[in-house]
Amino acid sequence: MSNENLTDARMKKNDEFYTQYSDIQKEINAYLEYDKNVFKNKIVLLPCDDPEWSNFTKFFAQNFQRFGLKKLISTSFAVNSKNFKDGYQLSLFEKKDKKFDKTKTNTNGKIFELSKDISGDGKIDINDLEWRYLDGDGDFRSSEIEKLRDESDIIITNPPFSLFREFIPWIFKSKKKFIVIANKGAVTYKEIFPLFKENKIWSGRTNWSGGLWFETKDVNDVDKVINEVNMKNTPSIWLTNIEHGRRHQPLPLMSMKDNLKYSKHKEILGKKSYSKYDNYNAIEVPYTDAIPNDYEGVMGVPISFLDKYCPEQFEIIGMDGFDETPPTKKYSNKVKVKDGKRMKSKTGTLGCVIKEKDYGKGTYFDVGYPVRAVYTRIFIKNKNLS
Ligand SMILES: C[S@@+](CC[C@H](N)C(=O)[O-])C[C@H]1O[C@@H](n2cnc3c(N)ncnc32)[C@H](O)[C@@H]1O
Repeated sequence: MSNENLTDARMKKNDEFYTQYSDIQKEINAYLEYDKNVFKNKIVLLPCDDPEWSNFTKFFAQNFQRFGLKKLISTSFAVNSKNFKDGYQLSLFEKKDKKFDKTKTNTNGKIFELSKDISGDGKIDINDLEWRYLDGDGDFRSSEIEKLRDESDIIITNPPFSLFREFIPWIFKSKKKFIVIANKGAVTYKEIFPLFKENKIWSGRTNWSGGLWFETKDVNDVDKVINEVNMKNTPSIWLTNIEHGRRHQPLPLMSMKDNLKYSKHKEILGKKSYSKYDNYNAIEVPYTDAIPNDYEGVMGVPISFLDKYCPEQFEIIGMDGFDETPPTKKYSNKVKVKDGKRMKSKTGTLGCVIKEKDYGKGTYFDVGYPVRAVYTRIFIKNKNLS
């Protein structure tokens, strides 16, 4: 399993990752820089949150007036419904509140709302948040939360990664604007990738490299302890359908000839040409910065290209494994050869492969001749050439 898939599998068991305030601030500021009125008079819904712990709730409540919000709604998921309950503690705020109900505290979700000054200090901020128990457990798929979704203008959250395939269609059903965090691998899901292709979803402002650091409740899966808080790094990214400037910045690229002559990548430097796939009608471009700016045909690029995708510069044609871009060739017999060792299994899905003279380090297949497998590839075309 690749590292990304491993992370995916671990996250399927544990959805309790909490986003850092500074990451939210950095991302949200980019939308405001592009359009200072992006949140003006808007109802922002933060579903799948945990308002007592969540920095999303804190951030938007603190900036309520500066952003000109009409209403902020944040909802949480009941403890008993969570996959992973370790580390959960009833907050003092709830226990001490006169609304505390021991018959509901574990079974019901909560809703926090902010729209007016109730503290009487002349401003609307975090001190004016009002809360109550939801009727249900706060599942985003429940009619109670769907109603809130339909009433809102913008949906912002870090949703449970285990339900991401359902979460994005859930947003699209209501045709709302959104800013959400996803696991990087999610961009290849059949529910998500076509939306990239149609320019209905795109990368947020934060660069994909380095992933994101979250507070984790799983003490057995900690990468670093910072100020006594358990932190986990994951290949996470922001996705959105709200404009920000970075999306329209074309990639600075070299010609094919210059790439072959000056590339910093050993796979390109000094070669006579870019490799062609054996089973797709496209050339292999192993790095986004190695995309030749003068190639008219279809190019296979890594999924991280989507972080840099400028819709005025490139068109997304498809991806290996997708129906619209089927392989030109299927192999009736294929044997996996890993680091030169033949494997027993004759199955395994094949993405793009490159015909080679011999088997080397990495994943190869014997299809009657050696072919080298590459990671998932997205097919793109330069929009301004043909
Ligand atoms: C990745 S955490 C993020 C929490 C918070 N939004 C943040 O970023 O700090 C996702 C949250 O969604 C909750 N959750 C899991 N399944 C859910 C569901 N079906 N409906 C609503 N929330 C859910 C989890 O319990 C968890 O608290």
